[in-house]
Amino acid sequence: MSREIAIVSDPAAAAAERIATVVRRGGQIALAGGSTPRRAYELLAGMDLDWSRCELWLGDDRCVAPDHEHSNFKMVGEQLVDRLPVCRRPHGWHRIPGELGPERAADAFEAELRAAFPAGVELPVFDLILLGIGPDAHTASLFPGDAALGERKRWAVGVETPGMAPLVPRVTLTLPVLDAARAVVFLVSGADKAEAVARAFGDAPGPDAPASLVAPRQGSLTVLLDEPAAARLAL
Ligand code: 6PG
Repeated sequence: MSREIAIVSDPAAAAAERIATVVRRGGQIALAGGSTPRRAYELLAGMDLDWSRCELWLGDDRCVAPDHEHSNFKMVGEQLVDRLPVCRRPHGWHRIPGELGPERAADAFEAELRAAFPAGVELPVFDLILLGIGPDAHTASLFPGDAALGERKRWAVGVETPGMAPLVPRVTLTLPVLDAARAVVFLVSGADKAEAVARAFGDAPGPDAPASLVAPRQGSLTVLLDEPAAARLAL
């Protein structure tokens, strides 16, 4: 695994550039939810890129309807996909059917992944997975101390009780899938994330800081931070 920690003035713009590189090649991309990546998605929407050779996924979503304010699918649609000319949209834009509830939605998500990736593979290999980090050092919907962290076989699991708001059940990719990616990019900004960043990328990895457990086996790990988010990271 190659690991790069970059402190930049505009992490969202840096993340958009990394994603754009993969979009130009075509491939399987999983995006993050939450608020931090919104600007990166806006920038991507304005980059005149052709996404038609890409399949677009979410690393996790909340178990709500696709038009609900907490829906990551809704957010990414509004900030990015719906702003693209129809002919340049991803040839697959996959939604996690959260309204089915965490277990059935996780099953449906995994079935859709298995249908989209080569038959019989042990794990899907994403070309890029974008992740965020919570103040509790969770990533995707992998929360400290949650059983989902120990999953080794399944590609996606339901999370009944998330450790942070919005307190609705979730569905998330599992650690083995994150670690199988060709590139994992963390996009993090703001002083409220400094402690989590120090625990995730400064200390020894551990289940109390799920983001610290992300270690792409053959791929690259890039952490894009602004100064406030990096304030407690001893580099
Ligand atoms: C989600 C995300 C989650 C997010 C972090 C950071 O669905 O909430 O996938 O992992 O990346 O919670 O969220 P913010 O960017 O809003 O701080």
